[in-house]
Amino acid sequence: MSASSRKGNWGFIMADHWIENHKRDSWRRQAKASGYRARSAFKLKQIQARFELMREGDVVLDVGCHPGGWAQVAVEEVGEEGIVIGVDLEPCQPVDGALLMVGDITDPLTQERIIKELEDRQVNSVISDISPHITGKWDVDQAVAMTLVAKVFDFALPLLCNGGWFVTKLFQGVGVEELIDAVKPHFSYVRRFSPEASRNSSSEVYLICRNHTPWNATSTSVLDRYEEGVNKLLGGDEIVDNVVATKTKFTVRRKKVE
Ligand SMILES: C[S@@+](CC[C@H](N)C(=O)[O-])C[C@H]1O[C@@H](n2cnc3c(N)ncnc32)[C@H](O)[C@@H]1O
Repeated sequence: MSASSRKGNWGFIMADHWIENHKRDSWRRQAKASGYRARSAFKLKQIQARFELMREGDVVLDVGCHPGGWAQVAVEEVGEEGIVIGVDLEPCQPVDGALLMVGDITDPLTQERIIKELEDRQVNSVISDISPHITGKWDVDQAVAMTLVAKVFDFALPLLCNGGWFVTKLFQGVGVEELIDAVKPHFSYVRRFSPEASRNSSSEVYLICRNHTPWNATSTSVLDRYEEGVNKLLGGDEIVDNVVATKTKFTVRRKKVE
């Protein structure tokens, strides 16, 4: 590549970065002006505008709710009759009309607290914007993120009503197809959607799962099916039976030590 064309490519890359940052800042400014805590609020607003997953009086479980942008939007949608329960590792400033708790969604104690707060009510929509701490090692981060999402499904699916919704953030990469395959039996409609507010920002995409069909569910967990799919993809976990020893004339000659 010539020096000038390299310089040309850099020009494109810098322009892309500038556009991305400009768009992100614009959503941030809009969030601030509208009283939302995070630009992510617009992602949920755009998902809601397209799919109408939340309605007045609904029960919503908001997973990975800090700083509370999605909880604010959820409260607006479900109104005073509705219930919004949020959970995050980080404490949130209170959101009027929502119960936001601190805890790890994969921890049985946190799960018990959520179940207790639900008081036998079923959840109409699970909205999960969860993203684990990023280490910078791309393949490790992807595997951790996918596993976390699978665990959220396994915890929350039994709480979800017939016909309920499940929206979750995913990062495009290894394992996404396997996770989607693992989730598909639980819903009649599963597709990816990229709201305008998250375009150009990393590889994130939202998985929209509509119409929970618990009667179709398989007995294995989403996590097990996801891991099975990934193992097949990566060629791991292959158990070879009846291995026959083969003879070879190949020998190793050690060098004589003088
Ligand atoms: C992108 S933020 C969510 C933003 C939020 N939807 C909003 O609009 O304000 C992702 C959140 O997931 C949370 N998180 C990551 N792992 C978690 C876990 N195991 N349990 C609960 N929350 C978790 C992080 O602490 C982080 O605050």
